[in-house]
Amino acid sequence: MQMLILAGVLGYVLGSIPFGMVLAKIMGLGNLREIGSGNIGTTNVLRTGNKKAAALTLIFDAGKGAVAVLLARAFIDEDAAQIAGLAAFLGHLFPVWLGFRGGKGVATFLGILLALYWPLGLAACATWLFFALTFRISSLAALAAAGFTPFWMIILGNLEPLFLGMALTLLIFIRHGANIKRIKAGTEPKIGNKNSAA
Ligand code: G3P
Repeated sequence: MQMLILAGVLGYVLGSIPFGMVLAKIMGLGNLREIGSGNIGTTNVLRTGNKKAAALTLIFDAGKGAVAVLLARAFIDEDAAQIAGLAAFLGHLFPVWLGFRGGKGVATFLGILLALYWPLGLAACATWLFFALTFRISSLAALAAAGFTPFWMIILGNLEPLFLGMALTLLIFIRHGANIKRIKAGTEPKIGNKNSAA
């Protein structure tokens, strides 16, 4: 039990590091809260026009989810890996450092899935990429990647992370409430559009 709590704390601390905010600040891109959607993730960093910062945000936000899972698995066990993954995701959504106002968790979600079961992670990344290339709307790609996750688990024959996957999917949908409204209204900006998605 103590080890599971430790995994949760480790995951939360890692997940709560707001890499997008930190990188935007270090690279002189301004305050993400005042840019585009105000979100702290890759899509909004891209709205600053700095692709390198966006790529680094993607790598670090996905990486923190993956590292939490891999560390917990290496030092504790598979249950701890799932708890660390969930905690990392919650850390990204509700970081103590930002008054619990965090991001939408998409990159962290992909990193967690890649570390939990890489074929599932690859399937989710491919789903994101397919929708992103087809519709050029990041939030739509994220919703598709999350929504298809339980389906991919069934196809790939690994239901072990089903509850975790469904919890993350649900949270991603809840977190994208404003995006869903804009998608329905046809006002959600395309990937790379600067300073949109108010
Ligand atoms: O990964 C976040 C993305 O799905 C939506 O971001 O800034 O357009 O709300 P944003």
